[in-house]
Amino acid sequence: MTEYALAISDAEIRRYLLMAERAQANEASLWQKAGICPDAVVADIGCGPAAVSVRMAQAVGPAGRVVGMDADAAALAAARRVVEQAGVANVELRLGRATDTGLEPGSVDVAVLRHVLGHNGPDEQRIVDHLGGLLRPGGSVYLVDVDWTAARLLGGDPGLADLDEKYLRFNKSRGNDGQAGLRLGRLLSGAGLQVIAHEGHYTISAASPGVRGPVWAARESMLAEGILSPEDITRWDQAFQRMDAAEVRPTVFAAGFFAIGVKPR
Ligand SMILES: C[S@@+](CC[C@H](N)C(=O)[O-])C[C@H]1O[C@@H](n2cnc3c(N)ncnc32)[C@H](O)[C@@H]1O
Repeated sequence: MTEYALAISDAEIRRYLLMAERAQANEASLWQKAGICPDAVVADIGCGPAAVSVRMAQAVGPAGRVVGMDADAAALAAARRVVEQAGVANVELRLGRATDTGLEPGSVDVAVLRHVLGHNGPDEQRIVDHLGGLLRPGGSVYLVDVDWTAARLLGGDPGLADLDEKYLRFNKSRGNDGQAGLRLGRLLSGAGLQVIAHEGHYTISAASPGVRGPVWAARESMLAEGILSPEDITRWDQAFQRMDAAEVRPTVFAAGFFAIGVKPR
């Protein structure tokens, strides 16, 4: 993988915790369909700060377990704190890569990959193939990703007008596809799995003050690659501050996609 671009901070961890809470509520029926149920063994690959791993650990209960894996040591350190604070005993955290997890083939009920494919353009199919190989017969791969080109901000600050365009350009320069969510079904079929769900949801929410999102988290990497200038970062910072102070909250529209592929018995 190219070096991961989003830096972990306390604000980012709060954003992940908020997204995980929403995921558990909004995806309940998909989780059940995928087999994230009591007693299941789940591998959460590219777990980041493990906010979703903890939620899935609660769903599989004490007789189930979740292996949270990430290639980034800083993300894993944050994950250790999140798991400890949640007080769950059935999450095991490991350092490792999605292309070669080192997990035993045929040992996993559900392999989960959330918001990882969009950062691994050149390796997408290799990753999904590898996850398919981890499944026991009847097990599933559960994929979540976005269409960044469909993201919208209503009532946002004009100082952020170039935010999405610059982030897409940055990702393209790394071989990443901002529309990975559209191809989840194809990636699962390409791995020899039977696609039993491929859905898209437009999540509409009020922008929370203090929450700046993935593009802001990637600003240092974008600066290093010449996509952003220091002046752009100052302009964005000021625009976010104005937005935080705005009386009427801007509205965020995010296009998320979910797909489940089952390994034939
Ligand atoms: C956007 S975060 C998503 C975190 C988590 N899945 C969630 O949805 O809350 C992506 C995470 O995937 C990790 N990652 C990206 N590419 C990876 C790879 N090839 N192998 C393992 N981890 C990877 C990053 O380090 C980062 O922590």
